[in-house]
Amino acid sequence: MEKLIIDGGTPLKGRVKISGSKNAALPILAATVVYPNKYSLNNIPDIQDVRTMLELLKILGAKYTFKDNKVVINTINIKKHEAPYDLVKTMRASVLIWGALLSRLGRAKISFPGGCAIGDRPVDQHLAGFESIGYKTIVKSGYLESISEGPVGGNFKFKVKTVTGTENLILASILGKQKTILENCSLEPEVDDLINFLNSLGGQIVRKKEKVIVTPVTELKKQKKIYKVIPDRIEAGTFMYLGCIFPNKITVTNAKVEDLKEVISTIRLMGAKVETEKASIKITPPKAIQPIQVQTKPFPGFPTDLQAQLMAVLIFAKGVSKIQENVFPNRFIHVAELRKLGANISIKENTAKIIGVNGLAGAKIQASDLRASAGLILSALSSKGKTEIFRIYHLDRGYERIDDKLKLIGAKIWREKE
Ligand code: EPZ
Repeated sequence: MEKLIIDGGTPLKGRVKISGSKNAALPILAATVVYPNKYSLNNIPDIQDVRTMLELLKILGAKYTFKDNKVVINTINIKKHEAPYDLVKTMRASVLIWGALLSRLGRAKISFPGGCAIGDRPVDQHLAGFESIGYKTIVKSGYLESISEGPVGGNFKFKVKTVTGTENLILASILGKQKTILENCSLEPEVDDLINFLNSLGGQIVRKKEKVIVTPVTELKKQKKIYKVIPDRIEAGTFMYLGCIFPNKITVTNAKVEDLKEVISTIRLMGAKVETEKASIKITPPKAIQPIQVQTKPFPGFPTDLQAQLMAVLIFAKGVSKIQENVFPNRFIHVAELRKLGANISIKENTAKIIGVNGLAGAKIQASDLRASAGLILSALSSKGKTEIFRIYHLDRGYERIDDKLKLIGAKIWREKE
């Protein structure tokens, strides 16, 4: 296992090119299973989760090449309907193969999904949704086995907004026998990227805010041109928050500004300057960061995936800030690690209270989930002295070459064997 060493305190200046979205690439890769064909996808981030998904598709019978952020995948010979435990346990998003296999083969067997350490990750809404559109599921020795019984299609209203739940129901209904109407769907841009991809293949999926209407088709057409996935708004937000910490001066490029409205408003509330120009966003930090209060919510609310990164900025605010985590039950694991650097943070139920401090000092800390480790990096970069971050495999699941991108703007960061 590797650890990250960061010699903090150096000013970070320059432009950071944002990679393709992990959470758009994963459902779109799963979608290539729905119909036997050859697909070309671009702007696919070279991260562990993408390689895990490609490995899973290969085990099901797909063949692929992945080079220079381009995937060419042939899913004509997919026959297997079972997603093996050892792959599903490492990545929650493998749950997306479930819906795709149901459309393709009418059956799917996946082990209970794993993923990050951010609390219990139920799939009750996926199950209830599949049930309502004609799939029966039995739970047997840690596996979920679903099979279609009768014509696929129907109506379902999600009890909670679930991103992969919405995506799974779209994937499982697109080749059905009758129309499917889904309500209280997630509004995340990554869901729309999946819808756009499927519609580019002849899918008939219409979104009306939280309602998604799937008119089934009997086949998906050959691709007319290579499909480019959207930029990663969470990676963009991560570097934008780093740019809020004086004296850094960071511009992110290849970003999608309209997906970052809520993030930009928090940055302006903290007193930083935001200048956008096409796909570039330039951040100028304030001399003093203003304290703010934020609640994480499903899109278009403030994203839970940027909660730890925002916290890394508020550690230096002139006053008391609050972040309420409403999406996941246990997403403050990074707080104990930030305290080791000298942060003054207390937690009461699902709210973190951050009392601003003047500076942090390097220490040995441990990454827990993918996005928390990004928050730890931002804090380590802003601490005096050396920080060692252990278990950084979490980081490599979702950030493409983050140390190289940071070195390019002046960070003293390197890897060593643990
Ligand atoms: C997606 O996870 C993202 N992953 C997560 O990003 C992101 O944090 C999350 O959405 C919320 O935005 C991918 O898109 C691959 P949910 P997902 O189902 O779909 C509850 C990252 O780092 N729920 O939207 O697994 C659930 O417990 C990852 O990129 C049910 O109760 O999350 C949670 O509290 C981390 N029953 C809430 O809904 C269900 O059947 C949102 O979960 C499903 C979910």
